[in-house]
Amino acid sequence: MIEELIAWARLDCLPAAQRLGLRREAAALAVRHRRLRTHWADHIAQTRAALLAAARVSAAVPDAPRRAWIMGAGLLQDVPLPELLCLFDQIDLVDVCFGPAARAAERNHAGRVRCVRQDVSGVLDDLSRDPQRASPPMPADAWCASVNLLSQLPLLPCAALLESGEAEAAVERYGTVIQQAHIDALSRVPQACLIIEYARTRADAPDEVLLPGLPDRLIRDGWTAGARWQWALNPTGEADEPSGRAMQAWRRGGDAGR
Ligand SMILES: C[S@@+](CC[C@H](N)C(=O)[O-])C[C@H]1O[C@@H](n2cnc3c(N)ncnc32)[C@H](O)[C@@H]1O
Repeated sequence: MIEELIAWARLDCLPAAQRLGLRREAAALAVRHRRLRTHWADHIAQTRAALLAAARVSAAVPDAPRRAWIMGAGLLQDVPLPELLCLFDQIDLVDVCFGPAARAAERNHAGRVRCVRQDVSGVLDDLSRDPQRASPPMPADAWCASVNLLSQLPLLPCAALLESGEAEAAVERYGTVIQQAHIDALSRVPQACLIIEYARTRADAPDEVLLPGLPDRLIRDGWTAGARWQWALNPTGEADEPSGRAMQAWRRGGDAGR
């Protein structure tokens, strides 16, 4: 509890996001990262490797983007910043909430690393907005990456709508549109990377696909499947029923995207 309070105090967060509870969530995540670092080490290493592999493909074309736009990077836990700084002149870390590591990176690489406070769903300060219209465009001249963010985008907006009495089915549709709008925006930029949780895994049950139909849709939109790995999200001892996530990286661009 005290640890979370300290982590909370160290974050700076967009007011609209804070009102919905995203600052509290980010503080809890920062503490879980510390507590579960051994269990999560492989997932973090895999995420970093997948990001770097996608960035290298994008950087290999003659007129490659010189800028990276990395969404979900406020805690800077799973972003291989030193390696990415060798590939890009400028790196924009995009999130609603930033922790001390991201702020330190901005100071230590002044002019090259920026913390951009942006709600990538565009709905946090007005949940009545149509997510398809609200979702802000991503910079087409940058390599754009969405890092373990897609599953998080609808959670707190949907929780707030449910609490206000909206019907469950409508809220579920709304959450799906938030996710679709994010993928649509990412699919409009020529060079991109998407890292997602695609299934919930349990030892004694079949995998529960979280985003049915998404892989087919990504392939139709010109995405290439990358690495897959398992994330021990709630290992034994952490939850009554241990569970994990099946993860997958996707990329578009490089030679094929031009
Ligand atoms: C599960 S974390 C992603 C993992 C993260 N890359 C790490 O280092 O642990 C999700 C991130 O998305 C951010 N986020 C959630 N909703 C957002 C939104 N609407 N716009 C921008 N960032 C958002 C959260 O603040 C959080 O930092």
